[in-house]
Amino acid sequence: MDPDVHSRKILVTGGAGFIGSHACVALIGAGYLPVVLDSLANGNIHALHRIADITGVAPDLVRCDIRDAAALAELFKAHRFGGVLHLAGLKAVGETVADPLSYYEVNMAGTLALVRAMGNAGVRALVFSSSATVYGANARSPIPEDAPYAAVNPYGRTKAMVETMLADLVQSDDRWHVACLRFFNPVGAHESGLIGEHPHGRPNNLMPYLSQVAIGSRSHLVVHGTDYATADGTGVRDYVHVMDVAEGHVAALRHVAREPGILMVNLGTGRGASVLEVISSFERASGRSIAVHVGPRRPGDAPAYWADASLAEARLGWRARRGLDEMCVDSWRWQMRNPWGFDGSAPTARNAEPSAH
Ligand code: UFG
Repeated sequence: MDPDVHSRKILVTGGAGFIGSHACVALIGAGYLPVVLDSLANGNIHALHRIADITGVAPDLVRCDIRDAAALAELFKAHRFGGVLHLAGLKAVGETVADPLSYYEVNMAGTLALVRAMGNAGVRALVFSSSATVYGANARSPIPEDAPYAAVNPYGRTKAMVETMLADLVQSDDRWHVACLRFFNPVGAHESGLIGEHPHGRPNNLMPYLSQVAIGSRSHLVVHGTDYATADGTGVRDYVHVMDVAEGHVAALRHVAREPGILMVNLGTGRGASVLEVISSFERASGRSIAVHVGPRRPGDAPAYWADASLAEARLGWRARRGLDEMCVDSWRWQMRNPWGFDGSAPTARNAEPSAH
């Protein structure tokens, strides 16, 4: 049986998380109806309320663990889905080294349980959130999709293993339609400032850390290394606006509705930006100067990498439309309106006012 492309109802696992919540907004904008499965371990219930503020549509939430086979079977019995966006998973690079088994359990066994439930229900259109981390630190940029797997940590290996498992599945059964989206560095926020990224505790990633320094909740940013062989000595990454990534999910969903088989595809801009370029752009966006300390290189960091973004354009008709300045403006708007993330204050579209401190 082909995927039921006539059903506009789409299951979004991890839909209350950073990328998942933006994907829900893009789905609704494109006329789909997302149903969110989320354990709320990292996702936030307020994100779903904010999706309703932005779009006028409140996605249903099924609160359960992605490994819960009985709950998944129930869910697929209760709804007739046209496809699945699978974003649920663990993703903290530091934690994955200390606790690899949790990563294999949630990311591998979770996907296995999901795919089994899908197959049993006859829903075989799947868009999987993968990561550029599958390429490892030494790939030559721009990185094409046929670069070999060379992940350097358990998190990255779980992404590569899930991709491999899905490729084997598609090979065994041509009724499956799958796309694996390899995100580069998703940053920014929806332009409303109502949804965005708010990591628990101390942020690991550049953009949320920078935002917290600008708002005054952290004293300074440490630049991890200024002695790389890059134009200004700092690390270079392919930052891509989270709404572009969200729209990439919609494009991938349309692709899997049309085409069987499996497609591995990069979601990046095809351009790199250095840490110092990101800081300058953020200073312009916020009108604030960022205190910076120079620190040593961060272990495991690659000097520079960015996507070959041509396959996404050719196969999905997708390319990133938003630049670095827009990413910083939108990150800053989100940070200003939500200094403590979704917790503490709960502004809505009707009462969200910038409130710096
Ligand atoms: N950086 C700093 N100071 C900070 C944080 C980061 O200088 O406080 C630098 C890093 O050294 C790097 C750049 O900013 O040069 C980007 O670092 P991030 O931590 O924001 O992002 P990474 O590229 O390290 O990793 C991200 C995700 C991973 C994912 C990977 C895929 O965090 O989960 O992209 O490419 F696997």
